[in-house]
Amino acid sequence: MPTTMKKETNLKTGAGTLALKQYIGGKWIEGKSGKEILSINPADTRDVVARFQGASQDDAKSAIAAAQKAFPAWRATPAPQRGRILAKAAQILRERRDELARLMTREEGKIFSEAKGEMDKGTTLVDWFAGEGLRLMGTTAPSELPSNLLYTLRQPLGVVSIITPWNFPFAIPAWKISPALVAGNTVVFKPASLVPALAVKFVEILEEAGLPPGVLNLVIGSGSSVGDILIEHPSVKAVSFTGSNSVGRRVHTLAGARGIKVTCEMGGKNPAVVWEDADLELALGGVFKGAFGSTGQRCTATSRLILHEKIADKFLKMLIDEAKKMKIGDGLDPAVGLGPAVDEAQLKTDLDYIETAQKEGAKLLCGGKRAQGGELAHGYFVEPTIFDGVKPGHRIFKEEVFGPVLSVTRTKSFAEMLSLANDCAFGLTCAIYTRDLNLALKFSEEAEVGMVHVNSPTIGGEAQVPFGGVKGSGVGEREMSKEGLHFFTELKTVFLDYTGARRESNIY
Ligand code: UN1
Repeated sequence: MPTTMKKETNLKTGAGTLALKQYIGGKWIEGKSGKEILSINPADTRDVVARFQGASQDDAKSAIAAAQKAFPAWRATPAPQRGRILAKAAQILRERRDELARLMTREEGKIFSEAKGEMDKGTTLVDWFAGEGLRLMGTTAPSELPSNLLYTLRQPLGVVSIITPWNFPFAIPAWKISPALVAGNTVVFKPASLVPALAVKFVEILEEAGLPPGVLNLVIGSGSSVGDILIEHPSVKAVSFTGSNSVGRRVHTLAGARGIKVTCEMGGKNPAVVWEDADLELALGGVFKGAFGSTGQRCTATSRLILHEKIADKFLKMLIDEAKKMKIGDGLDPAVGLGPAVDEAQLKTDLDYIETAQKEGAKLLCGGKRAQGGELAHGYFVEPTIFDGVKPGHRIFKEEVFGPVLSVTRTKSFAEMLSLANDCAFGLTCAIYTRDLNLALKFSEEAEVGMVHVNSPTIGGEAQVPFGGVKGSGVGEREMSKEGLHFFTELKTVFLDYTGARRESNIY
């Protein structure tokens, strides 16, 4: 068994500490970095969720070598058969959904209902890409010449590196690994070392579903020890990354220097607009979920709220009332609506931004402090925080916080609203709440983002449509959907002359 329980540490649930391993060439092995890494429950730091020996550079090289060795046979496996392994994995994931969601809440902190939502979404993605095994299609085209067949083939790239963040420990690995595998690539997967448990479970499930040794390899360790080798090694043919803008740019630069394919999804500073004619109850639900869902630790989180002046006071009162009602705590408690920051560093970032916003002159409407009464003292909790009077020059208007902090700016003209929405280095997603169809369409056209939501929150995505952003939010191909699959393939064009005779033509 790759994962084993060690001792009882979670005081409430009695769940034990998982002893995790690396998965290289179909074997579960100890990492060789010499550094033990602990995964800690952010809602209760006395609870050690998992421990493991971090991967070394040599482990990463062995993983790449194992993936390289497994590639020819996996490439030769018919795509529908590759898809069937994913379909089997999806079935196991569905059966074990609640158990895995509980582990996710314990390790990452998001509330249990959101963890179940993430399991469902990730499993749908695995299923969707499983089906793509039957649809890995090229095209045929009419030739300028008689008796000449033109067609394209979609072929795998080879060994690909997949580097994922801590905030969606299952869904993001699922939407990168599934298309990579079904397209016939072999994978080296490096999850964030803050949330290794779900990554290990996902790999175990793919192994149980029948994935051959070496096709998927798992290296868990710090980015500084294994990150670069996963991009710079000559056998690696593509990199898919999700994480911060600063790390993403570095990944892009390193991959660009080698001339390999790279896609980076790098966060956001997403605005939600609530216009004067909006259904305010509907907007309240969406803005609240967008800003404080997943503790704001979502690249699609609503972090800027642009309000029409006419409804601003009324809407803010509704929002503050809702925020004050929300229970903060351990996400396994069904009454809790807001879980913890993922670790001490993120907690500090949240509190630093809150302090800076106040210094820069934004008006604190609610929250603004660490929540640490009673049991909360053992976790990294921040109150849901709303600032009014935020201006484009303020750091809180421009920079991604990744916490439950919402910045409000008021306006009354469409042109100013649009310029506020677009005055941003990021461009992942946005939302507009209005009943005016023309306004919604105009906004959808002009917003500088990869995704627009009309009368729905900035968060989320669906397997069958592209996911990704522009400007500082993303570079490279979109994820999910056909585009997400296409990133992991190379197109080959075949020119097949079946005249059977010498052709007199100047067109070739
Ligand atoms: C979602 O909003 O459901 O890191 C997905 C992130 C994004 C995924 C968001 N890549 O938050």
